[in-house]
Amino acid sequence: MLGGGLVRGSLVLLGGEPGIGKSTLLLQVAMSVAARGGGVVYATGEESPVQVRMRAERLGEIAEGLVLFPETDVTAVEALAESERPALLVVDSIQTAVDPDASGGAGSVVQVRAATTRLMRVAKDLGVTTVVVGHVTKEGAIAGPRVLEHMVDAVLYFEGERDHVLRVVRAVKNRFGPVSGIGMFEMDEGGLRGVEHPSSALLKDRPAAVPGSAVFPLVEGPRALLVEVQALASQTCAAQPRRLATGLDLGRVLQLLAVLDRRVGSALGSHDVYATVAGGIRAVEPACDLPLALAVASSLRDRPLPPDLAAFGEIGLAGELRPVPRTSLRVDEASRLGFARIMCPAPGASGSSGGADVIPVTTLEEALRVLD
Ligand code: TYD
Ligand code: MG
Repeated sequence: MLGGGLVRGSLVLLGGEPGIGKSTLLLQVAMSVAARGGGVVYATGEESPVQVRMRAERLGEIAEGLVLFPETDVTAVEALAESERPALLVVDSIQTAVDPDASGGAGSVVQVRAATTRLMRVAKDLGVTTVVVGHVTKEGAIAGPRVLEHMVDAVLYFEGERDHVLRVVRAVKNRFGPVSGIGMFEMDEGGLRGVEHPSSALLKDRPAAVPGSAVFPLVEGPRALLVEVQALASQTCAAQPRRLATGLDLGRVLQLLAVLDRRVGSALGSHDVYATVAGGIRAVEPACDLPLALAVASSLRDRPLPPDLAAFGEIGLAGELRPVPRTSLRVDEASRLGFARIMCPAPGASGSSGGADVIPVTTLEEALRVLD
């Protein structure tokens, strides 16, 4: 996610909703660094050291290089970092950190900024690699990590829902390297584990032969990832039908529904439409238009798409299919996972790839014939 690891002396922000797994991930990282002989200071203002220790014990063996420090005052954290010179300093969380020289209560914008500035100095002056935790609420907390994004060297965010087994961490900023996509983790009793085959993990629970489900090869940084796009069109008498999108750009969904309505005569005005990406993944690429349109049409006609079909492509207002970047990467990932038919905008890759047939389409209308 960081394009090659933590850079010495850098300040990294790990953001995410409460309960998503920030402390768990950092504790695991801290334990792993300590197990290799590096010193780690884990400053915790959120939980007591007893709680953190109990959690750490469940996660594995605690090496002696790991110091759990129950402290919210950044001056004390600074002093300990200065004397210990750890390989890694974790501050969990920035909302509980307090700079006694600044005004305002813990968690206020002033405090969060001041504490981060002090920690930045610890990272730069002492060369201590520092990771701070920041809670983000659904509404985007005012004094949350967003105000810190420009101050730190790298920003990682946990995405998705805390009720999901799969958790995604995305790098949204990295001063030292490329913002190289996402890391996918699974949460179980042993903490977070890296998912080796994200596409298989995401498609594992896909229902067989159900209307409204389409497979989309999404591109995340350097790789493609197969995700399931779901739509449910449900008849309504309401004057204003509902449109709900999860993990998708609602504006884009609305535009696509209008195109379906006008270009292929789908009777969407009398239907509520719910659209989502399974597994808590976000798919906001224009390339998601085609699988979404197929999913909506499939639900509307109550007819499943062929189970071996994957699709991608942008759809214009005239109902035309537009090429998208990274065609061969998408085709390869879909065929690697056994999808025998891959529908995409023409011209693009055509013919076959790795045993899969590539179906080039030029219009939405042509694409929807796959449902006939
Ligand atoms: P946590 O790391 O405390 O979240 P954050 O610091 O972002 O608020 O994650 C807490 C959740 O993770 C909690 O719901 C319990 C769950 N969890 C597990 O499922 N397995 C584990 O091994 C651990 C440590 C936590
Ligand atoms: Mg926490």
